[in-house]
Amino acid sequence: MSWWKTGIFYQIYPRSFMDSNDDGIGDLRGITDRLDYLAWLGVDAIWLSPCFPSPMKDFGYDVADYIDIHPDFGTLTDFDALIAAAKRRDMRVILDLVPNHTSDQHAWFIESRSSRDNPKRDWYIWHDPKPDDSPPNNWMSYFGGPAWRFDETTGQYYLHNFLAEQPDLNWRNPAVKAAIFDAMRFWFERGVAGFRVDTIDRMLKDPELRDNPPNPDWQPGDNPTEQFLRVYSENRPGIHELIAEFRPVFDEYKDRVIIGEIAYSMNPHDITGFYGTDEQPELHLPFNFALILLAWDAATIRRFVDTYESLLPPDSWPNYVLGNHDRQRLFSRLGDAQGRVAAMLLLTLRGTPFIYQGEELGMHDGYVAREDFQDPQGRNIGISRDYCRTPFHWSPGEYAGFSTVKPWLPVAADYRARNVETEMFDPTSTLNFYRHLMHLRRWHPALHAGAYRALDAIDGCYVYLREQGGDRFLIALNFTAAPKVVTLPSLDSASATSLISTHMDEERLDQPVNLAAPLHLRPNEGLLIRLG
Ligand code: GLC
Ligand code: CA
Repeated sequence: MSWWKTGIFYQIYPRSFMDSNDDGIGDLRGITDRLDYLAWLGVDAIWLSPCFPSPMKDFGYDVADYIDIHPDFGTLTDFDALIAAAKRRDMRVILDLVPNHTSDQHAWFIESRSSRDNPKRDWYIWHDPKPDDSPPNNWMSYFGGPAWRFDETTGQYYLHNFLAEQPDLNWRNPAVKAAIFDAMRFWFERGVAGFRVDTIDRMLKDPELRDNPPNPDWQPGDNPTEQFLRVYSENRPGIHELIAEFRPVFDEYKDRVIIGEIAYSMNPHDITGFYGTDEQPELHLPFNFALILLAWDAATIRRFVDTYESLLPPDSWPNYVLGNHDRQRLFSRLGDAQGRVAAMLLLTLRGTPFIYQGEELGMHDGYVAREDFQDPQGRNIGISRDYCRTPFHWSPGEYAGFSTVKPWLPVAADYRARNVETEMFDPTSTLNFYRHLMHLRRWHPALHAGAYRALDAIDGCYVYLREQGGDRFLIALNFTAAPKVVTLPSLDSASATSLISTHMDEERLDQPVNLAAPLHLRPNEGLLIRLG
């Protein structure tokens, strides 16, 4: 089985992971210095949010050069050292590719905007104003305001689905494809194991630039950027064929993975559609964000997982995500007790788990005052992603051991209790809970490769089996704050041992379980039981 199916991915937000040179900004050497921590934790692959040269208007998602490293993060030499150090620990490194748009400071855009007949004019999406000088249509930017910016030099508007400093590339132009694919090869040659591709389903826009229809569910006070349905401004016919064109570039190299960020959806069809077909394979792993979006309710989650499993094309592989650099942190969203239940779900389901840095500490969102917002989305429309991007907590010391100087974002209030140093030596900590589960997942084929089968359970509980040959596990999760008694069907096993509970107390560590009797789950308890 491929490494990206059996392994555990860990997302690093480089600005906030570890600062090695005392400037308050995390960097590549900081990551290299802390690889032993990730190896100890049980991480198989790290995904780095963009670390390329960028004016940082969207903190790196505005790329000014696809084939270099931003000086804040280090140099290409530092990058090579990171890859080599990861390799020594049998850890893969994947990068974040942002093909939908560049920075307005990218050389391609500087050329494109210089004149109407510049050879790179058609690398971006330019259009004349309407007769009244207004933008070509009603499309809106995700970060607020119209998705069009008027450019004085040539008297036309250019399209930007995100910031005006992030002009959209024209993916109907073969030269754009060739240039981005070459950038991918540059990193593959340096040993990168794959890419997480940003907003990959949004790359194609309506060539006629038709207006988006109003969103019937939108009400004043809702997110202003959702006033229109994005029918024409993204995900147009042809997008599957375009995504499929990425695959051969990956296949030129051995064992590389393509993970795609697609629109957040609770509908499993929307996700499974991006695996493609045998004739036209698309993504190895189209991100599944359903566990972030769905109501945290046992029946709802089970129904989703079962449907998602049933819709997966043959030979395709599921994946699960509980958080990232764009969303409220897991432990802020669900609370400490259910945060651990969610982690047990993530690490025992069939499918590649993605952990966002700090999740394993039970980190909560930080606090950033409005006037200190760094994130353009926060500054423009009030929905700040700074809260989930505060520095990682290494120790209870100053600045949480992230840096010796004031970090670029304030350290979250909970760092004195939730940090690596403190949690490492507390056998009941969230960190040790994650680590224990991650290592169990690695050692047991049933957990990283086995079949999945849900069992019927009482309200509020989600119970399932993972099995591979003689390696068998029962997972029982109590999604509620009340005690529950679960009656199990006959499981055809001679013995059973509970290996770990979300409560991390001695009571359930390596304890025999009597399968003939009903199973008692304490409030907010998840149990991993090995069947003999
Ligand atoms: C993706 C990224 C997000 C970024 C946006 C524009 O959604 O995850 O951080 O702002 O794309 O590139
Ligand atoms: Ca630094």
